[in-house]
Formats: sequence, C-alpha cells, structure tokens
Amino acid sequence: MRHLAIVIFLGLLIASCAPKASSEANSLAQISDAEVLQFAIPGKELYENYCANCHQKNGTGLGKLIPPLRDADYFKADIHRTVWIMKHGIAGEIVVNGQVYNQAMPANPNLSPLELAQIATYLYNSWDMKEGVINAPRVEQYLRTPPAEN
Ligand code: HEC
Repeated sequence: MRHLAIVIFLGLLIASCAPKASSEANSLAQISDAEVLQFAIPGKELYENYCANCHQKNGTGLGKLIPPLRDADYFKADIHRTVWIMKHGIAGEIVVNGQVYNQAMPANPNLSPLELAQIATYLYNSWDMKEGVINAPRVEQYLRTPPAEN
C-alpha cells in the first residue's frame, strides 16, 4: 500500500513537471534551420541570464512595470531599435501594446556584438516570428547609428 502511494506520488510529480518542460523548450522547438539554431541556442541562455529576470522566460514582461517582448508591437516594429536598447538601455515613456511604461532598463556594455546577435536571433525566431539569422556584422552596423525613433 505504501509502495503504491509512492508510485502515485511520483506519477503526479512527473505529470506536473512535463507540461512546464515542454513549454520552455517551445521557443527553440519552432526553429528548424541549422544556422538559426547555432545562434538561437546560446542566445536563449544569454536571454535567460541577462533579460529574463525582468522580461520573463516566456517574454510576457511583468504587469505595468516591464513591457512584453512576446507579441509586442514595439518589439516587432524595429530590430535595429531592439539591438540598440539591449546595448545602451532605455529610459523614459514608451507605449507597448497600448500600455504606457516608464521605468529605466539598464545598459549591457559587456555584451559583445556576437552575443547581442545570438540574443536577437533567438528572440526574433521565437513566438511565431521567423526573421532568420541576425549576425554580428549586422549588429555592429545597427550600433553605429541610433535607431530612427529613439
Ligand atoms: C532590470 C530589468 C530589465 C532587464 C534585465 C532587461 N530589461 Fe528590457 N526593459 C526593461 C524596462 C523597465 C523597459 C521599459 C523601458 C521604459 O519604460 O522606457 C524595457 C524595455 C525593453 C524593450 C523595448 C520595449 C519592448 O517591449 O519591446 C526591449 C526590446 C527590451 N527591453 C529588451 C531587453 C533585452 C533583450 C534584455 C536582455 C539583454 C533586456 N531587455 C533586459 C527592463 C529590463
């Protein structure tokens, strides 16, 4: 009887973990292109270390404090601007999906163009976006001039 209870407990434990594990893998699971994956795999890890504390692993942001990246009009509108924000941070009022945000995001002076390229490739090939590889030369190009509306 006791044995059975342990088996049932373990079964429930596994069942409760399984959906979580698969939804986390989800954002890489949509990528089939090998070159995109080469960037997106390290990009996912960098995102989780440098961005997910605030924007959350699944990109939904945090209420009225942190804007979303997933399904976000502001994010989708301009890759150049996103690369610039990752490197230099951003402060002041912005509107994302109709919601006003006004908190400072810190700069990431230590992230290299390749690391920024990996994060950008990961994000822009997640959540049904398919922007392909955003490579380091393209990131360097973006960092040379501020984006149009910033
Ligand atoms: C300490 C919390 C924090 C961290 C860490 C952080 N951000 Fe942000 N981010 C913010 C906040 C707050 C804003 C809104 C800024 C404003 O109101 O002007 C923002 C805005 C943005 C925006 C523009 C708004 C949008 O939703 O598209 C992008 C893109 C972005 N962040 C991407 C990133 C990426 C990529 C990383 C990791 C390299 C990152 N952020 C790390 C807090 C953070």
